[in-house]
Amino acid sequence: MSVDDMTTVPDTVTMPAPATPYQGDIARYWDGEARPVNLRLGDVDGLYHHHYGIGEVDHSALGGDGPDREKRLITELHRLESAQTDVLLDHLGTVQRDDLLVDAGCGRGGSMVMAHQRFGCDVEGVTLSVKQADFANRRAHELGIEKSVQARVCNMLSMPFTTGQATASWNNESSMYVDLHDLFAEHARILAVGGRYVTITGCWNPVYGQPSKWVSQINAHFECNIHSRREYMRSLIDNRLVPQAVVDLTEATLPYWELRATSSLTTGIEDAFINSYRDGSFQYLLIAADRV
Ligand SMILES: C[S@@+](CC[C@H](N)C(=O)[O-])C[C@H]1O[C@@H](n2cnc3c(N)ncnc32)[C@H](O)[C@@H]1O
Repeated sequence: MSVDDMTTVPDTVTMPAPATPYQGDIARYWDGEARPVNLRLGDVDGLYHHHYGIGEVDHSALGGDGPDREKRLITELHRLESAQTDVLLDHLGTVQRDDLLVDAGCGRGGSMVMAHQRFGCDVEGVTLSVKQADFANRRAHELGIEKSVQARVCNMLSMPFTTGQATASWNNESSMYVDLHDLFAEHARILAVGGRYVTITGCWNPVYGQPSKWVSQINAHFECNIHSRREYMRSLIDNRLVPQAVVDLTEATLPYWELRATSSLTTGIEDAFINSYRDGSFQYLLIAADRV
């Protein structure tokens, strides 16, 4: 039985009104999202991601062109997506079992589950989508970790955590939906001094000049607003978040996109990612910053 067929939903999710009409659009977008590229990959091992992959493709795992190729390809794409989360978690610093981690824009919760499995601590996530929060909570329930891993429907610009409550927090491909100054001010509020913030995100490259046509296409496709690399750096520093590591993952994500473009799960946006990464107008970055 797939996770979508299950009917017992822990009663944890309520829906506050979106703060803006745009947030209402985004909530509807993710409530309605059920692309095979997300669900079939998640079905591989029960970790449901809404982000992209990094690392070299293991061509030996793909085998030849036989009937099983598509299944093996899906497993390989999923492995690369989980590898992306592992790199994010590698940058969270020291985390103890009694710490709190916050996943801002948590999607269906794959990163939260992986964080709990690695650190053994509580992980709270927020998303605008009731369906995603339900899904994430149901998965946590099935795994028996519902006391430690919880998703809520709320705006990440106003999170339900007290000042300094979190040891670390992150945005995994979710910062392009909000104003960065507002977002980082909120992370700086909920993080303890000395806490760690990490984002993995696509950003347009100021060296290119302005957002390229590919970046504009990606914005239209996902109804988002990709920020520039310069905007990330400036907004972090302006909000007491001092970058400690900036890792350019652009080269590392290209094999994922090139492989995905050969699958039956394409969504039509693959060429925009591949072309913009290749022409230098778009970058896939990890930024880890300390709350000072
Ligand atoms: C591309 S998905 C990424 C999901 C997840 N981080 C992952 O890696 O699988 C973007 C997520 O950002 C969330 N989001 C966008 N704007 C938000 C906001 N203002 N407050 C909370 N969540 C938001 C969406 O609901 C969605 O879950």
